[in-house]
Amino acid sequence: MEVKNRRKYLFRTYGCQMNEHDTEIMEGMLNELGYAPTTTEEDADFIIFNTCSVRENADNKVFGEIGRMKNLKRSNPNMLLALCGCMAQQQTVVDRILKSYPQVDMVFGTHNIHKLPELIEQAFLSKETIIDVWQTEGEIVENLPRARKDGLKAWVTIMYGCNNFCTYCIVPHTRGRERSRSFENIITEIKQLKDEGYKEVTLLGQNVNSYGNDLEDNVDFPTLLKEIDKIGINRIRFMTSHPKDFTDELMDVIKNSENICEQIHLPFQAGSDEVLKRMNRKHSREWYLDKINAIKNNIPNVALSTDIIVGFPGETDEQFEKTLDMVRQVEFDIAYTFIYSPRTGTPAANLEDNISLSDKKRRLQALIQTQNDISKKKNLEYVNKTVEVLVEGYSKTNTDKLTGRTRTNKVVNFFGEDTLIGQLVNIRIETAKTWSLEGVIDNDGK
Ligand code: 5AD
Ligand code: SF4
Repeated sequence: MEVKNRRKYLFRTYGCQMNEHDTEIMEGMLNELGYAPTTTEEDADFIIFNTCSVRENADNKVFGEIGRMKNLKRSNPNMLLALCGCMAQQQTVVDRILKSYPQVDMVFGTHNIHKLPELIEQAFLSKETIIDVWQTEGEIVENLPRARKDGLKAWVTIMYGCNNFCTYCIVPHTRGRERSRSFENIITEIKQLKDEGYKEVTLLGQNVNSYGNDLEDNVDFPTLLKEIDKIGINRIRFMTSHPKDFTDELMDVIKNSENICEQIHLPFQAGSDEVLKRMNRKHSREWYLDKINAIKNNIPNVALSTDIIVGFPGETDEQFEKTLDMVRQVEFDIAYTFIYSPRTGTPAANLEDNISLSDKKRRLQALIQTQNDISKKKNLEYVNKTVEVLVEGYSKTNTDKLTGRTRTNKVVNFFGEDTLIGQLVNIRIETAKTWSLEGVIDNDGK
């Protein structure tokens, strides 16, 4: 079929890599159904909002966008409009859509994406909004097509859901309990990626460290990582880890591996033990710092990143200072920082949100400033060193330069031929900025 005659789809994806990867799967399914991608809304026959609920402003943004779709739908009444992902798993969202957004044709949850073809058919036949959200834990559906784009770096989900119930977090409520994919299915998928020429995989899960806890065979995350390491894909990353489950064994596996990158994302959320307790994080400040010291001692040149929330209900200035102190002590390469936002249905939403927005913003600014100085300092350590860079393409901001990433996930920009795209290249770093490094090709370098 000519592309111009094919029905066209457009995704708007919000939130984490799990969502990005779900979009890849849905794109793969739509491609198999004969749809083609488009990047213009006016051209699209099917617009899908794959949403995130982790923070409130993400929700508001999506409602704003869906409101805007009303006009588009008026000029193209045959267009289908869908909302899926974590927002769809919340009853309050579904109720709001049904009440005030009749332009939405279908709402489906995080575990129903495999039913997309069926839902499209139903939506065409029905005038009502089709709602298909999960009530119980979904089964894991394997062998769905995936429209991976770059042929170089791939996401592989190893488990779904979370059992941790941090009191601020909506994820256990929208994604359900932990469910691990089978060991064999993961290994088969990664071997196939290797055969297709992929050079990097990122293993995804809300808490990858508890991989296998729900499986009958005696497999756990370190065992899985060891096996994946043997496949021979150049770079293996994983996220997210929970500090309470980051074991010495896992550290040993990373240390002794060939291909697991020296990069660890370990959220600590807050520096005060009282706040951590109220967050139900199940680890203390000391426990976290001990883990970090062990990681630094065992994995030379490791890059560390974290997630931090400011303004959790009841957080005092003194308690916030402990967060700043933690950032200074650890010296993370990157910190993802968030203002606390109450999510309906979580225990923390019942606590009085007693910190003013201006105080929350002030704390966030102080945190960002502290971390930016540290990020720059960490990047300066790379100057005059030669690092291995996986070249991804041309830089978006500096289009005459190539861009890629180090094993520690730092962005490196440099001049080079486009034949280097997809290759591992040695680059000698000359300049460090807060967010990226600049360098030159170092052909004799190590
Ligand atoms: N408010 C603010 N930040 C949150 N996160 C999760 N829930 C909330 C919330 N209610 C942050 C945490 C988590 C990251 C993915 O999002 O830091 O690690
Ligand atoms: Fe949310 Fe905590 Fe689970 Fe992370 S570990 S997904 S913050 S409940």
